[in-house]
Amino acid sequence: MADAELEALKAKVAAARLAPQASETGTVVEVADGLAQVTGLPGARLNEIVTFPTGARGFVLTLEDDRLHAAFLDPPDGVAAGDTVARSGQLLSTPVGDGLPGRVIDPLGRPLDGLSAPVTSDRLDAERPAPSIIERDFVTEPVETGLLVIDALFAIGRGQRELIIGERQTSKTSIAVDAIINQAGSDMVSIYVAIGQRLTAVRRVIEAVRARGALSRTIFVVAEATAQPGLRWLAPFTATSIAEWFRDRGGHALIVYDDLTKHAATHRELALLSRQPPGREAYPGDIFYLHARLLERSAKLSTARGGGSLTALPIAEIEAENLSAYIPTNLISISDGQIVTSASLFAANQRPAVDIGLSVSRVGGKAQWGALKAVAGRLRLDYAQYLEMKMFSRFGGFGDAAMTARMARGERIGALLGQDRFAPLTTAAQVALLAGLAEGLLDAVPLERLPALKAALPPLLAAEPALAAFRARPEGLDAATRAALLSVLKTALAPT
Ligand SMILES: Nc1ncnc2c1ncn2[C@@H]1O[C@H](COP(=O)(O)OP(=O)(O)OP(=O)(O)O)[C@@H](O)[C@H]1O
Ligand SMILES: [Mg+2]
Repeated sequence: MADAELEALKAKVAAARLAPQASETGTVVEVADGLAQVTGLPGARLNEIVTFPTGARGFVLTLEDDRLHAAFLDPPDGVAAGDTVARSGQLLSTPVGDGLPGRVIDPLGRPLDGLSAPVTSDRLDAERPAPSIIERDFVTEPVETGLLVIDALFAIGRGQRELIIGERQTSKTSIAVDAIINQAGSDMVSIYVAIGQRLTAVRRVIEAVRARGALSRTIFVVAEATAQPGLRWLAPFTATSIAEWFRDRGGHALIVYDDLTKHAATHRELALLSRQPPGREAYPGDIFYLHARLLERSAKLSTARGGGSLTALPIAEIEAENLSAYIPTNLISISDGQIVTSASLFAANQRPAVDIGLSVSRVGGKAQWGALKAVAGRLRLDYAQYLEMKMFSRFGGFGDAAMTARMARGERIGALLGQDRFAPLTTAAQVALLAGLAEGLLDAVPLERLPALKAALPPLLAAEPALAAFRARPEGLDAATRAALLSVLKTALAPT
């Protein structure tokens, strides 16, 4: 009898699973402002997800010798000092896949558009290494934004990082949204990341993209102003992973970070609350590294890696025209150029309010369509001279006819660089307008007729069979094509 009991016990012991199990738990010391201070999790890693007794999740933001700070990803209601915290062993990640275009999600991939969870095929970590030098290729293909001021003067290439920077309410978001809308018929997938914005502003952007037929090619990742600081911090990282999924399959993605000034503020807020030493302007010392490792992930990949690309349009806000503040100079130095918008140009009705003198695109010129390059060459110089002359003419007009003609030309350049929202121009239309300008065809056209001309031109050009090959790839501008473009322009100009 005793033997049988012993055998049964032996069998039980043999069946018991003695493998180590990850059930390390710590203790909440303090909860405040979206952060929890936790002791007793010595094995925890940065970016690891931890869970609280309420079911709320957070991630490890800082690690110190005997404690860590976790940022909440869910509302911290009900979590208090003394509660236990469990490690998950999982790092921050996001679902990715073909089901995401057309959707509005939060930084963890949860739907915000009232629909069911998006169909995804994979998960990617939020922080992923940037492609190495040998995995990259030169930036040679254009991103067509449909905005003449950018495509002609500050061309952006696939794989480039072009900062959009300016004061409040100076058309920064509109420029990026126009670029997204212009991808409605292209092979690019756009990702718009809203960081710390009011929901009404985000809704306006979503609605604009939907109304112009680009929603099915766009993913919105939203961490609004009232979202947990941890979510606002995370948003640009998971959104970049989502974009990389397309990039790494040979696809082309465009990501808009709106905006990184607010992201920097969130990073500072979390750093101060977790008692990291404040540096310049109270930002922690790693703010430069944070954004550098984010933007390094935008790249044009080599043929061996599939030839995909990720183009970034980070947005930054400045105060009082101060481009040399800490965050703006950081971001300028880790991007390949900047589109600078200006409150004074905006007030003077130049929209988009791009400052031609301060803006630059450092790699896009090599990616610009050849035909556009052929007609845009002198544009910037002519316009700069016009602006100078205009300033002097305030002190008394120039009588001579040559000057008057140059002023008329300059005014027309200004009118071409301005553009309504949601009125993208095809590259063919941009080339036709600039070729016509150079020929003097626009000099006698009243300025107020130019918007109507811009609207009329794209469909007329699209209907011209002789231009079919040119429309597909406007690589160069031979005499016959130039003549065909000018002929369509003249038709559009003819009084009806
Ligand atoms: N090309 C344009 N034509 C006419 N109006 C425009 C144009 N671009 C922008 N606007 C208007 O200017 C205002 C500011 O634009 P937008 O929101 O894009 O600026 P922002 O710099 O992103 O502002 P914020 O600092 O608030 O984010 C909006 O009301 C917008 O409708
Ligand atoms: Mg904006």
